[in-house]
Amino acid sequence: MELEDLPIALDVINEEGWGYTPPEIERMLRLEPRGSFLYVGKEPVGAITTVVHGPIGVIGHLVVSRKVRGHGIGKALLSHAIEYLRSRGTDSIIVIATDEGRPLYAKHGFKVEREILCKHFMLGADQPRMPFSKPVPMRKSDLKAVSEIDGELFGADRFRLLDILYDETPEACFKLVTDEGLSGFSMGRKTATGFDFGPWVCRPGSYGDAEELLNATLSAFGQGKVYSGFFADNRAAVRISEKLPLFKMWSTKLMVLGKSRCYPDTDQIFGIAAFELG
Ligand SMILES: CC(C)(COP(=O)(O)OP(=O)(O)OC[C@H]1O[C@@H](n2cnc3c(N)ncnc32)[C@H](O)[C@@H]1OP(=O)(O)O)[C@@H](O)C(=O)NCCC(=O)NCCS
Repeated sequence: MELEDLPIALDVINEEGWGYTPPEIERMLRLEPRGSFLYVGKEPVGAITTVVHGPIGVIGHLVVSRKVRGHGIGKALLSHAIEYLRSRGTDSIIVIATDEGRPLYAKHGFKVEREILCKHFMLGADQPRMPFSKPVPMRKSDLKAVSEIDGELFGADRFRLLDILYDETPEACFKLVTDEGLSGFSMGRKTATGFDFGPWVCRPGSYGDAEELLNATLSAFGQGKVYSGFFADNRAAVRISEKLPLFKMWSTKLMVLGKSRCYPDTDQIFGIAAFELG
């Protein structure tokens, strides 16, 4: 997939009603210029994206047009993406799988490692904005320290992604500093259809601090739909998220092929906007 294919790729991907816009796919192509693919028969009918963070390959946006499903196109796209990610030297390939995608990934050897609850919130004009006192705006120069914590939890350096995300909406990025140093951060950005929230990370045992980070980023969002995902076993994150006005929720699975990425520290990862999105 090349940059000029974006409109075609979006037509295919958005058949699912996912509402992606050019910047999200463009970001994938900026990070991994050769890692996204279209399946073109008589016309383009399938798409898949990938990005590499050191030893971890991430798969995103796998869609096949409804009219041609069940003919092996999904399988062909996934096999091609796996081959590409292996050629890039990754030892784990991860995906956040929908219920519909799960059987296909399972057939390729992916194993379910975690449940991730995806949520859309609707922030109305009358939504009370919750106070925060400890988080302060993140600066560009903080990104190195932020990516160090992010890397410890994620298992690989994602500086390039965090740098792009920061530049998109710096005013929605906050950090929390304690006597021990940087202890949490939250990043959000404006999209064409609303807002994406994540990554949202906080050192363990600091429920109140995590909530303040969420409030800080939400204070920078206007009215609209906010998308984020939460590890279901981080009970604190799920409880905090339940305070926001829910629009839609669905369950997905973190599936992994190759070296396990069991993310033992999900109590510190409060929110993600999907691994390919932050
Ligand atoms: C998931 C999806 C990409 C599969 O595409 P597809 O072209 O229909 O899949 P294929 O025809 O290549 O099927 C490959 C294998 O997976 C199996 N499979 C695919 N979808 C399945 C389903 N919903 N339930 C059970 N098995 C399924 C097929 O039986 C086939 O197995 P086989 O090789 O043993 O016959 C397609 O259904 C889709 O676009 N879904 C909506 C978007 C989505 O949820 N994407 C996944 C994002 S994580």
